[in-house]
Amino acid sequence: MKKFSDRTAVITGAASGIGLELARRAATEGMNLVLADIEFDKLEAAAATLNLPPRRVLLRKTDVSQEVEIAALADAAFDRFGGVHLLCNNAGVGLTRVTWEHATADWEWVLGVNLWSVIHGIQHFLPRMLKQDAPGHIVNTASAAGLLSTPGMAAYNVSKHGVVTLSETLYGELTAAQAHVGVSVLCPTWVSTGIQNSVRTRQERFGDTAPAGAQSIAYAERMDQAVASGRLSAADMATAVFDAVAHDRFYVIPHRRINQAIELRMHDILNLRNPTPLG
Ligand SMILES: NC(=O)c1ccc[n+]([C@@H]2O[C@H](COP(=O)([O-])OP(=O)(O)OC[C@H]3O[C@@H](n4cnc5c(N)ncnc54)[C@H](O)[C@@H]3O)[C@@H](O)[C@H]2O)c1
Repeated sequence: MKKFSDRTAVITGAASGIGLELARRAATEGMNLVLADIEFDKLEAAAATLNLPPRRVLLRKTDVSQEVEIAALADAAFDRFGGVHLLCNNAGVGLTRVTWEHATADWEWVLGVNLWSVIHGIQHFLPRMLKQDAPGHIVNTASAAGLLSTPGMAAYNVSKHGVVTLSETLYGELTAAQAHVGVSVLCPTWVSTGIQNSVRTRQERFGDTAPAGAQSIAYAERMDQAVASGRLSAADMATAVFDAVAHDRFYVIPHRRINQAIELRMHDILNLRNPTPLG
């Protein structure tokens, strides 16, 4: 997809972090914006900083883990702008604790927001995007966690591995179909955003997480430090994404130093070695 101006972008998780920077870049490119987030007040405040005329923006309170809400988001976007050209399935949450301290509700929350949201996004937007005349592109925000298996974040890892393989599968299918809709997967490592405070958006139906033990607390502290010290910014992620979309590049892995860890994992698999422990 080469042309962005006067096209329409739908971005989930747009009130904060990477989603907000994707929105900022899309606005700069002259796109119409459909911005969705579960935190609506924050979304309104964030959207105001984009200084766009109201005719170019649609804000929707959306819980992306709910299919009915994604379906309504798609209807609203197509009704308002007549088409959707860039879909960024970006909203996500993190949870840090050892696997045996993940309750069922923890798994359901993380998989719902991080993986089911992308599944529903594809279900409800892609068939309509394929029927449009204009080219389109889907960007799924996964993570380096979708390429590795870092301890202390089982549900997050599972959700992001799911997003990577879903995106790879879709890439193969769209290529075979010679479709004019492309797909990319964003796999950052650490970016300083609101992700370490994800519990703020945990829906009531999931209840509270159970108290964490010492090992989980240590992992969480390490993760807090890593995220806070992220060497690339959310704006860098948006730059990498728009570059990838313009050049139809599938893998968007802005932190190149992660290559070593990916390579090590691949060698472990190919050589039937036990997984080399990660940090
Ligand atoms: N920050 C990092 O280090 C990092 C690294 C790799 C991948 N990611 C991924 O980047 C994406 C964006 O996260 P971020 O780092 O900008 O964090 P963030 O917390 O700053 O932004 C996430 C946004 O998603 C929204 N959200 C949460 N649950 C939602 C729901 N049920 N429905 C709709 N919106 C919901 C939040 O309100 C928030 O605005 C996520 O998918 C995350 O997993 C982040």
